[in-house]
This record gives sequence, structure tokens and C-alpha cells, in this order.
Amino acid sequence: MAKPKILVVDDEKLVRVSLQKYFEDQGYPVVAAEDAAQAAALLAEEQPAVILLDVRLPDRSGMELLQEWKEAGVPGAVVMMTADPKLDDVKAAIKLGAYDFVSKPLDFDELHVTLENALETTELRQQVRSLRDEVRKRMGYHEVVGTSKTMREVMSFVFKVARSEAGTILITGESGTGKDLIAKVIHYESTRAEKPFVAINCSAIPETLLEAELFGHERGAFTDAKALKKGLFEVADQGTLFLDEIGEMSPFLQAKLLRVLEDHGFRRVGGIRDLTADVRVIAASNRDLDRAVREKKFREDLFYRLSVISLQLPPLRERKEDILPLAEFFLRHYSQKFRKPIEALTEELERVLLNYDWPGNVRELKNAIERAMILEEGKKLTPVYLPIRVTSPAAAHPGSGATEPGAAWQTLDDGRRVPRWDIPPGGTSLEEVERMLVEQALKQARGNQSQAARLLAISRDALRYKMKKFRLEEVK
Ligand SMILES: Nc1ncnc2c1ncn2[C@@H]1O[C@H](COP(=O)(O)OP(=O)(O)OP(=O)(O)O)[C@@H](O)[C@H]1O
Ligand SMILES: [Mg+2]
Repeated sequence: MAKPKILVVDDEKLVRVSLQKYFEDQGYPVVAAEDAAQAAALLAEEQPAVILLDVRLPDRSGMELLQEWKEAGVPGAVVMMTADPKLDDVKAAIKLGAYDFVSKPLDFDELHVTLENALETTELRQQVRSLRDEVRKRMGYHEVVGTSKTMREVMSFVFKVARSEAGTILITGESGTGKDLIAKVIHYESTRAEKPFVAINCSAIPETLLEAELFGHERGAFTDAKALKKGLFEVADQGTLFLDEIGEMSPFLQAKLLRVLEDHGFRRVGGIRDLTADVRVIAASNRDLDRAVREKKFREDLFYRLSVISLQLPPLRERKEDILPLAEFFLRHYSQKFRKPIEALTEELERVLLNYDWPGNVRELKNAIERAMILEEGKKLTPVYLPIRVTSPAAAHPGSGATEPGAAWQTLDDGRRVPRWDIPPGGTSLEEVERMLVEQALKQARGNQSQAARLLAISRDALRYKMKKFRLEEVK
């Protein structure tokens, strides 16, 4: 395997040449710079694993450079070299992130040992980093996009909360605003990151099953309980439990949950032993929990307990600045996933995206971009294949626009006329499309024939004829 690259930065030619020769003889590729400017260029170009950096350079101080590189997250290990080492400088350099400090005149063999150690450390560090990235990817931890002021504030709060000791966190926000995503970020940015992240949707499961899921059951606790089962509170011990749609939890389970949150104690279903679990609970809700409390559907004490730390994700229509960065992010994501070299959004598409109010929030935007990416044939993403409700929001509301002549076509800002529907790649049959439209009109009109006929701009007789032809008489 090729040895990792070394960058030597020193203004003295003799030092550069001799270091270069020495390490090349040991099999390392070496590049050398005589000042800070040259070093910066080589750093970007060559990506060295180790940098031997002189403290005094003609154009900048080596310490300044070190600080700049470390702040920018430059991955190489830096070994500082100086003719007159002062303890304070050494300490300062190490604090700034230098791997070590060596004094001139250089003892090459000693420097060699230092360098090998530095390499080993960086390699280990990189391994740890890529392992961690790997874990995050596998767990569905993705980048959170958001440049708007609100999202920046939300994210700085998220990071703060993640690293805090907070035992319960409540996330609210409309559907598709990123509650699941943020729950994962909180987990993976916390000290619990290496422990389990367990998620459960409280609305999807009947009460008795949910109880057994959360708290486990003893053997024989009920008819189907053939063996002991650990609940999610036990599984998530020392990790994070994400309770999605908490507003749907039954009053009985709300009480049981409150108890775990207050004294960490719980019992398995059918159990007599008190168990404890150290679990951070993140609860999410897309409905107004305040109101549920007022309507007595949600326990007030649990609400207060959960909302000690609470964060609200703003709907996308209230942070329009995020729309384009998100769209670009999804474009890159799907261009990789589908291996389609579509590199940018057209201006028309940008305008359409900014014009729509995204009731389904980020999820709706993501799905719209996915669809367009699948169907797009050009090098840039156009609005042609966006869902119809996005390109012409008015037409999505029944009664407005749908009966306009030419509703099958739309005119883009540049005057181009494009079809709203596209023929699938494998082709289709005209008859099939006609049948589909007749059926759809009937369904939309709930079987009201005059209304269905109006939707298709044909007479009732013509509609009846087509219903018969396509055997759609029963459709309502
Ligand atoms: N800021 C963001 N950056 C990148 N992707 C995002 C962002 N917000 C949401 N998404 C993506 O949008 C989709 C919907 O987000 P998520 O499932 O977290 O929403 P939710 O609030 O949990 O919705 P629901 O209430 O319906 O459960 C996911 O694919 C998520 O990765
Ligand atoms: Mg969700």
C-alpha cells in the first residue's frame, strides 16, 4: 500500500531538501512549501496526512496557520518545528490541535518516530469517524437543511438540548416538518449516541398492545404471552425512546408514562417487580397538545412534564428561504440515488416551488422533487413533471379552474405550453387513459353524472355512453 503523503513547510531550503530526501528514502511521498501561501495551495491539492510546519514563516506565523487549519477541520496531523522552543508556545500549539512539537536542529530518526505515531493516530481517528458516519447513515441520520433564521435558531437549540441532561423533550410541528429527523439528530448528537434509538408510533397500535410494547410483559401475562418480552423502555436503556404522535396515547398509558418519567420506575404487564430504566424520552405531536389538554383528552401533568423542553418546528410556508436549499439538497440526493446527471433546478422550477404553500411541508417537497427527478429527461430539473397541485395550486381545489378549456395544458412563465400529464416511458393506450379519466370524474363527483360530465366537458349522454363502453356504471 502506498505510504501517506507528507507536507513540509519551511522557509529554509536546506531543511526542506533534507527532510524531503530523508522521508522519500523511507518510502513516503513528500511535497514541500516555502511559505504559508504555497502551503495552503499544496494542502488543498495534495491532502497530506502529516504536515511538518515551521513556527516562523516569511509571510505568516505557523501558529496562526495551525489555528486556521484546525478550525477549518483540515484532517492531517500537524507537527510543529522550531529552532527555539518555549514551553508556552509548545503548550499553545498542542492546545490549538498540533500533534507534537520538535526542536531544531532536527533529529531525523526521532522525527520519524513522531511522524509514524502521528499517522497512526490520524488513521485511528479517521476510522472512528468513518465508523460513526457509517452508523449514522445506517440509522437514517441525515443532514438537516435550513438556512432560514428560524431553522438556524431551532438547530442551535437542538444541539444544545441534545448535549444537555434533559430527560424529556417535546417536538411539535405540522406533518412533514421534520420531527422524526430532529428526534434522530438529538439522539446522535447526545452522549447516548452509541446506545439504542428506538421509535414507536403511539397512534398506530391499540392500547393493550402498546402497553406491552412499551413496558414488556411477563410470560403468561395474557393469552398470547408465551414468553417474557422486554419492553422498549428496557431495550432503549441508556438510549433514547421516540414516542411519535403522543397525543393519541390513551389516558391509562399516559398515567403509566408519567410515572416512568418521574421516577424511572415501571412494571411489565403481568409483572410484580418494579423495574427502572435510564431512557431519554422524545415525544412528538403534530396536533395542538395545549388544546387536547383543555379538552381533557391529554393529561395536564404529563403535558407539563413533557414540555419542560419543547421545540416547535415551523411549517415550510413560514420559512420560504429554506425551499430552494432543500430542493437542491433533494436534487443531489436523487441524482445520486437514480444515477441521473441532473445538476440544477431551472429558474422556472424555482419560481413554481416558491409560489406554492406546501401544506405537506418538507415531505411534500421531497416527494415532488423525487417524482420530477424520475421523469425528467433534460440536464436541468423543470416544473413539467411536478404534481399538478404544485404547478397550478388553484386547479387542485374543486370547482376552480378544472373545467377551463385547455386544463390539460399549462403555460410556463417563458410562454412554453406543456402537458400536465405525461405518457409513461413504456407508452399507454388512449382508450385506457380515457377510461381512467371517466372513472376519476365519476369518483370525484361521487357518482353524480351531471357533475362528472361537466368535469370532462361532455354531455350527459356522451358520459353515459362511455360509462357503458368502459363498464363503469357502478362507479361512485
Ligand atoms: N430540514 C430538513 N432537511 C432535510 N430533510 C428534511 C428536513 N425536514 C424534513 N426532512 C425530510 O422530510 C421528510 C419528512 O420529515 P419527518 O418524517 O421527520 O416529518 P414529521 O414531522 O415526523 O412528519 P409526521 O408528522 O407526518 O410524522 C423526511 O424524509 C425527512 O428526512
Ligand atoms: Mg413523523
